[in-house]
Amino acid sequence: MVKIILKDIPDFDKIDVYEKHGGFSALKKVLKDMKPDDVIETVKKSNLRGRGGACFPTGLKWSFMPKGNEKPKYLLCNGDESEPGSFKDREIFEKNPFQFIEGSIIAAYAMGCKAIYCYIRGEYWKWINIMEESVAKAYEKGHLGNNIYGSGFSVDMYIYKGAGAYICGEESALMNSLEGKRGYPRVKPPFPAAVGAWGMPTTINNIETLANVPEIINNGPEWFASIGEPKHPGTLLFGISGHVNKPGVYELPTGIPLMEVIDKYAGGVLGGKPIKMVIPGGSSMPPLTREECLTMKMDNESLKAVGSAIGTAGVMVMDEDTDILDVLIRITKFYYHESCGQCTPCREGCGWMLRVLKRIKEGLGRHEDLDLLISVAENIEGNTICALGDAAAWPVKWTIRKFRPDFEKYIKEGEVVLTNPNKVHALRNSPEYNLNTDTSEYKEVEVRIGKTREEVDELRY
Ligand SMILES: Cc1cc2nc3c(=O)[nH]c(=O)nc-3n(C[C@H](O)[C@H](O)[C@H](O)COP(=O)(O)O)c2cc1C
Ligand code: SF4
Repeated sequence: MVKIILKDIPDFDKIDVYEKHGGFSALKKVLKDMKPDDVIETVKKSNLRGRGGACFPTGLKWSFMPKGNEKPKYLLCNGDESEPGSFKDREIFEKNPFQFIEGSIIAAYAMGCKAIYCYIRGEYWKWINIMEESVAKAYEKGHLGNNIYGSGFSVDMYIYKGAGAYICGEESALMNSLEGKRGYPRVKPPFPAAVGAWGMPTTINNIETLANVPEIINNGPEWFASIGEPKHPGTLLFGISGHVNKPGVYELPTGIPLMEVIDKYAGGVLGGKPIKMVIPGGSSMPPLTREECLTMKMDNESLKAVGSAIGTAGVMVMDEDTDILDVLIRITKFYYHESCGQCTPCREGCGWMLRVLKRIKEGLGRHEDLDLLISVAENIEGNTICALGDAAAWPVKWTIRKFRPDFEKYIKEGEVVLTNPNKVHALRNSPEYNLNTDTSEYKEVEVRIGKTREEVDELRY
């Protein structure tokens, strides 16, 4: 199985070992033999697509940067990695930091960038330390800094620590955060290639995207384009979590069947249970049903065909005993908490969705709640400054669409068994509290209420 990034070479994270195995040869080749535009053309031809979630073609993105040196230009490397279920970039920091550094320098050369900023989420202390040491080593060995290899090209690289906000992974919020401002996404246009960090032309790429670049230069774009699915070629670092025997990060070609990823690499579902649901690319991606999983290929086009997408390839596996409502409440709570609050549909809509989901869980759901949730989600989707709104809306809309009977079951059960509407009153009368030894009232409340739904709603809200 081809490995582009997570190669099985011992101590590959040491600069001497990396150099011994051909490390920095791509950078040398680029600086000696290639013009910046040749590099962009090569990356375009390879059909490399961004690994940060949106799958945008990398070479095309690089070509948006203005030519010439009128203004300083910047490359931002996105290692924020805060989406639940995504944990693959830290594997690159730990196991192959120099290939990512080399890829960033090549990208900076291709776009004429003056400086590279690597933004890493604040909680990643271990990997921040590794990256600071690795960048220092690259300087020591002459791969970074002034006049690299006597080529006349100079670039500096800085590691920047985030403060643990998911929104700072969004490219324009990241730029604000880097500038020392609050991590608010910016309205686009203007796009970063025109007005980016400090108002200068800027490109933002994911860590994994950049780590692919040296091998594209070394082996040629045709080689890369021939791996996996032609429309979305290369390998992906699949981060597999949830109910599997061997969770972890596995580098596998795009287009690999999902069940092969789960059964062969992740050791199968815990206890051999059937799958209930799989989220294929980090928590914001619409989920797959068991039937969809059986035939699904793991590339963006195949996933798009069932309304999902590859995202960050963070695969979350859930077995048949999973409570889908609990999962959706947890995911929605995350986006509600992380919404920066700038746009009304996202700020208010996330809260609405969470409250309605919670009332279904409490047994107080109404049948119309499911369509209400879909409608709130659809009113968030596409109506916000950044894609966090979509990230919050998609799981709600698609999980309800694909697993509607699970939600209906809760609502139906809620109709029949509405226990204990007044917990405080019941507790006061319980023997534990020793206030009233006569527990008949408590028992009565526990059994059934016998109120209409409207009366219950009035009691509850
Ligand atoms: C709320 C939100 C969070 C994001 N978090 C990340 C992240 O942690 N890492 C990342 O690479 N991209 C993240 N993205 C996507 C970035 O905005 C951007 O598209 C990406 O870094 C571009 O890199 P690529 O073209 O190499 O994929 C996020 C987007 C949104 C809307
Ligand atoms: S969509 Fe949400 S996170 Fe994004 S800018 Fe609007 S309020 Fe902030």
